[in-house]
Amino acid sequence: MVINEGIKNKELYEKRENLSKENLKKAIDHVLAKIDQNLERYTNKFPTACSTELVYGEIDNVDWTASFFTGMLWLAYDVTGDEKYRKVAEIHIQSFKERLEKRIHLEHHDLGFLYTLSCVSAYKLTGNEEAKNIALDAAKLLASRYYDKAEIIQAWGDLSDPAQRGRMIIDCNMNLPLLYWASEVTGDNSYKEMATKHIKQAAKYLIREDASSFHTYYMDTETGEPLYGNTKQGYSDESCWARGQAWGIYGFPLSYTYIKDWDLIELTKKVTNYYLNRLPEDGVCYWDLIFTEKDNEERDSSAAAIATCGLLEMIKFLPITDEYYEYYKNAAAKMLSSLITNYTTDINSEANGVLLHGVYYKGGNAGVDECCIFGDYYYFEALVRAYKDWNMYW
Ligand code: GLY
Repeated sequence: MVINEGIKNKELYEKRENLSKENLKKAIDHVLAKIDQNLERYTNKFPTACSTELVYGEIDNVDWTASFFTGMLWLAYDVTGDEKYRKVAEIHIQSFKERLEKRIHLEHHDLGFLYTLSCVSAYKLTGNEEAKNIALDAAKLLASRYYDKAEIIQAWGDLSDPAQRGRMIIDCNMNLPLLYWASEVTGDNSYKEMATKHIKQAAKYLIREDASSFHTYYMDTETGEPLYGNTKQGYSDESCWARGQAWGIYGFPLSYTYIKDWDLIELTKKVTNYYLNRLPEDGVCYWDLIFTEKDNEERDSSAAAIATCGLLEMIKFLPITDEYYEYYKNAAAKMLSSLITNYTTDINSEANGVLLHGVYYKGGNAGVDECCIFGDYYYFEALVRAYKDWNMYW
């Protein structure tokens, strides 16, 4: 049984920041200016996952993060209607097609991130049939990572790799929409069934009794028995990696949108309360929720952006009489407002990222206090969600 801590630091979420249309528009214009600064550079190449001294490098379409800039292009097209963004995003689609055909670095579950933001988005926004078919092929490949007995999708590595066998991770919550979508589009329910089974296992084993999350959890693929949880990107196996918790805050409601299992919303409230109770004054988390101000550790703005999107998604389903409704609305506005005011790059600088103070992987010393391309994407998505009625790509 997962406990609900309630909200302990209510004073932080009692007042509503004023996110006026005008301020949101200004923040969106800032993101658009940064995209424009990058457009040519990332037409045939992709940004690295994180920046070095606030400048992203250029790589081929090989990493799990390749779709976040493409997703930003679709958001830019969505809010402006400007064809220049669509044109580059459509060039990216051909790159995603080739990547899938040649199976370039696709032995992982992040097919969801990759093909939802590049191709499902294209199909939903423009009716692009080729993009639809590419995304369906990606869904098929993702489904091949599912274990019947363990009822999970393996996160990383070749399925025969004993070190990765049966390992699910909280991030996978964000990869499941590709499967739900594939069932909707094809009428083949098997994708939805796998995603539904996976999210239930994620809820059962990745979320601990106190509503914090394990980053990763191993299942025995022969017997289906749960084995143990540990971390890859968090501070320790017992701590709670902030971005992992944010993937939970966003990913459980995403599954709710497809399967309407209210338990997922009840769980999200608990996971959210755990997160909100560990935020510093400005509403932007440290990279692991074990830290407090006195630890002098970095923030992870990307986790804050993801959690903001999650809160904005979840409150769509909460009745306004829910005891947390106002707190969640205020918390989302507070986090977004804090990111807008104190966590963005200078518009006229060399920095080609948007969101400052992200942490990609502290233990691996990668992208610490830098821009992270997924942080930029979710920040933009949060702005668009707050600015207009947005039909999501997930
Ligand atoms: N999905 C990997 C990460 O959040 O860094």
